Amino acid sequence: MQKKSLFSKMVATYTLIIAISFVILAAFLSFWFQGYYFEERQKQLSGEAQVIANAAVQYLYGEASLKQINDVLIHTSKYTSSDVLLSDNYGYIYAASNPQHKKFIGRQIITEDLGVLRQGDAVEKKNVFENIDNNTVHTYEMPIFYRGIFQGAVLINTTMNEIKEPLNRVYEIIWISAIFAIVLSSVVIYYFSQRIIVKPLAKINGVADKISKGEVDKRVDINSNDEIGVLAHSFNSMADSLQQVENNRRVFISNVSHELRSPITSIKGFIGGILDGIIPKEKEQYYLSIAYEEIQRLTRLINDLLDLSAIEAGKFSLNIQEFDINEIIRLSIIKFETKIKSRKLNVDVWLEEKDVHVLVDRDKMIQVVTNLIDNAVKYVNDGGNIEIRTKARGQKVFVSVYNDGPPISDEDTKHIWDRFYKSDKSRTSKVSTGLGLSIVRTIIAQHGEEIWFKNKQNKGVKFIFTLKRARK
Ligand SMILES: Nc1ncnc2c1ncn2[C@@H]1O[C@H](COP(=O)(O)OP(=O)(O)OP(=O)(O)O)[C@@H](O)[C@H]1O
Ligand SMILES: [Mg+2]
Repeated sequence: MQKKSLFSKMVATYTLIIAISFVILAAFLSFWFQGYYFEERQKQLSGEAQVIANAAVQYLYGEASLKQINDVLIHTSKYTSSDVLLSDNYGYIYAASNPQHKKFIGRQIITEDLGVLRQGDAVEKKNVFENIDNNTVHTYEMPIFYRGIFQGAVLINTTMNEIKEPLNRVYEIIWISAIFAIVLSSVVIYYFSQRIIVKPLAKINGVADKISKGEVDKRVDINSNDEIGVLAHSFNSMADSLQQVENNRRVFISNVSHELRSPITSIKGFIGGILDGIIPKEKEQYYLSIAYEEIQRLTRLINDLLDLSAIEAGKFSLNIQEFDINEIIRLSIIKFETKIKSRKLNVDVWLEEKDVHVLVDRDKMIQVVTNLIDNAVKYVNDGGNIEIRTKARGQKVFVSVYNDGPPISDEDTKHIWDRFYKSDKSRTSKVSTGLGLSIVRTIIAQHGEEIWFKNKQNKGVKFIFTLKRARK
């Protein structure tokens, strides 16, 4: 499952990052604290050692008894949780706080450090194995001077366990807090990534699934202001256009079936009537000619449909060449000669210059001009005027087809380019399929040009389109 793995990857990554940061922080804190702790302890020990040194000097000069000196040592030992010993200037021990250390009295314990001590410097050693205790200890040795003469040294030994106990407690606190913080932030990350990413994605996914199963009216309801919100919005507009396409398809199919059914029903009726003998012999010819007309209409409809779908599918790539648009117009008009004569129409053609060369697909352009003239002839009143013009302006050639007659209503304006749209069904039912203008617009669009129409004030409709002018 995609969504689960995305989610766990995210949570794992964030948790890892946070864990690493906290571990580094905790390690740093522990290290820093250890340094701080030892520094503080050293200060404390050197203070205590000074007190002992003073007492030792008094003893050495006979101003204090051995018991008094031992009391000082024991007191300090308790206070600092360590063992305290005193050595003379050759490193021989003469007093010890711990009764078990009495056996060292009279023995030389300090040897190699004597040099440093004589210089007046204290010695501090961590984690050394002291044979006094058979234990690893922290040792602090401070020289005793009196009147500038080296008098011996104070030794303060603390077992490492003793020192480490408070340190360990602090480490514990630091690491427990770190672990607690890691767990807490993982929970927060888990919750928010669920809320912000995983759930919305699952929603979108669910709707996509439904749409793919045909429920095209489903939409995602996410209003967040982030990228997911934008995704949801685009997703919804995609669903809108899918739904539109689906609707168009339904309307288209119902239109096509409707257009096919009426001629087929009448053809079936006429031929059925002839076969059954219901239609008298002398009328057969008449009904057959009507059936023939219907079949021609069907053929035209099917050809138009095939054209349209082929053009839309981009099956015919345009065969663009240089042609004289005036020539194309002349060729197209000739086809309407009989109709023009029978309806007593007055056709004016205003062609700019002698020849205006344009870059077009010739056959497609003949279809465009023919469809527009067909409309003009169809919607003009008997005895009315038709005007066809070409005009060159810069890189473009403008072609217009005008007829007087009733203007196109506002309601129709929105739809005349749609497939199967015809405004006045009764008037145009015989010879109309409502495909003419949609074929025209598709072809013009494929040429990368534009087409529009104007209702003229003095009654009449003008269709205008542009073409690309050929360079001479
Ligand atoms: N010159 C015009 N004057 C008035 N109305 C027009 C004109 N040209 C088109 N129309 C309106 O636009 C509608 C669509 O035109 P279109 O050419 O697509 O279909 P049609 O002429 O009805 O059928 P077809 O061209 O397929 O035979 C027409 O039914 C008509 O109402
Ligand atoms: Mg038409």
